[in-house]
Amino acid sequence: MKLLDGKTALITGAARGIGEAIALKLAGEGANVAFTDLAMDDQFRATEAALQALGVKAKGYASNAALFADTQKVVEQVVADFGRVDILVNNAGITRDSLLMRMTEEQWDMVITVNLKSVFNFTKAVQPVMLRQRVGSIINLSSVVGVSGNAGQANYSASKAGIIGFTKSVAKELGSRNIRSNAIAPGFIETEMTAVLSDDVRKSWNEKIPLRRGGTPEEVANVVLFLGSDLSSYVTGQVLHVCGGMNT
Ligand code: NAI
Repeated sequence: MKLLDGKTALITGAARGIGEAIALKLAGEGANVAFTDLAMDDQFRATEAALQALGVKAKGYASNAALFADTQKVVEQVVADFGRVDILVNNAGITRDSLLMRMTEEQWDMVITVNLKSVFNFTKAVQPVMLRQRVGSIINLSSVVGVSGNAGQANYSASKAGIIGFTKSVAKELGSRNIRSNAIAPGFIETEMTAVLSDDVRKSWNEKIPLRRGGTPEEVANVVLFLGSDLSSYVTGQVLHVCGGMNT
């Protein structure tokens, strides 16, 4: 018996990075996995194949999580294909870093729409499904900088702080229906998103982290597994930091 046998997970932005690690971890524990990403490219197909190789039902959907109508359609398709959604992981996210002095309106709007509105879009579309089931776990990828702020990331920090407010409100609204809502605040995790940072920036991050290293996508996925499974059945409205101690 695996931790997630019989459950279906829906993960946004899971062709690569942390989302891919989450998809593989949940599938490895027996969950059927639906995932989305912007384009059905080689990486998307490779992730889909890797999930199917784990012996669960798995399917990827091309979708822009920032678009409300698009999201409604994708969730309808997922429910038609899988019959249910027990775990929703709002993972899709981007950075458009710049000091406020130089930040354009476009950089602001893009990050808020992709990172924050997408969480509203998917949670809103999945809510009726979870209400009918009378069970569900919603897990939102925030960030340590949503709690602490970060110079050069006013747009990103605001989007990630917004996710925390949303997560806590949904926990209060839906708790009586056995639907849980939690956020994860990763610190410095080694993915394509952070690969663009210079060695100097990387070194200075590592010096600030008590565990003295960046985290792996799998270390974030392990916490998603906890929050998605019944091991966390009395945990809701929380922000779990997965940051090597950097923000405590
Ligand atoms: P990544 O850039 O490696 O992967 C993000 C995925 O989301 C990509 O596959 C991308 O195509 C997809 N995506 C982007 N916009 C999308 C949209 N509009 N609709 C659907 N899919 C979209 O990023 P990474 O590092 O895996 O990050 C995943 C999440 O974790 C993000 O929300 C990020 O903000 C958060 N996070 C990452 C940290 C890190 O250090 N890497 C730290 C804290 C939070």
